Amino acid sequence: MSTDQGKPVSHSHTIMSELVLPNDTNGLGNLMGGRLLHWMDICAAISSQRHSGGVCVTASVDNVEFHSPIHQSEIVTLQSQVNRAFRTSMEIEINVDAENPRTGQKRRCNSAFFTFVAIGPDGKPTPVPAIIPQSDTEFERFEQALRRREFRLYMAGRLTPEQIVDFQAYLTSVRNSHLTE
Ligand SMILES: CC(C)(COP(=O)(O)OP(=O)(O)OC[C@H]1O[C@@H](n2cnc3c(N)ncnc32)[C@H](O)[C@@H]1OP(=O)(O)O)[C@@H](O)C(=O)NCCC(=O)NCCS
Repeated sequence: MSTDQGKPVSHSHTIMSELVLPNDTNGLGNLMGGRLLHWMDICAAISSQRHSGGVCVTASVDNVEFHSPIHQSEIVTLQSQVNRAFRTSMEIEINVDAENPRTGQKRRCNSAFFTFVAIGPDGKPTPVPAIIPQSDTEFERFEQALRRREFRLYMAGRLTPEQIVDFQAYLTSVRNSHLTE
């Protein structure tokens, strides 16, 4: 595949399933948050490496919320894709569902945005191909990724408030996305 014009989102789509074993749980028999974060990091890393075609490192993780406990013996399925690529960094969205193997019922437990940076052979950040959004949902995620990036770089002290194009619009979109969840 020529990557001159970029790559479609589907190229980075990653699905990963895990079974919650006793060693993954806390004293209540629920999945430890740290174990889930580890799996999320791996799933997002695979997406970033599929898109960039090289080694990538985690630069940041946006606020992670644990909506619902995941119990021992449940199946955890993680799905991730690159929403948008910038110069050397990529925003990766990850969604986590838990499944009760007896009933087959699934529920959304967690979602987060990871930023990965591609690293070249010299150990420095290296450019990545663009993302080519194709569906309406992909276009929406692509647009929103720019606002999220500004906010996270502001929080990391890398942008000043004046450099953020539309901070108020970002806050409104975050609030609306929480209200519609
Ligand atoms: C992430 C890292 C490579 C950035 O290196 P740097 O010297 O700051 O490089 P740059 O300033 O050129 O930034 C490179 C990219 O990282 C992005 N970046 C840096 N810090 C960021 C942060 N906190 N959040 C989101 N993106 C960030 C920059 O915006 C830039 O993206 P762009 O090229 O698409 O515009 C470097 O900080 C690093 O190696 N961190 C450790 C990574 C690691 O070990 N992860 C595992 C966790 S234990």
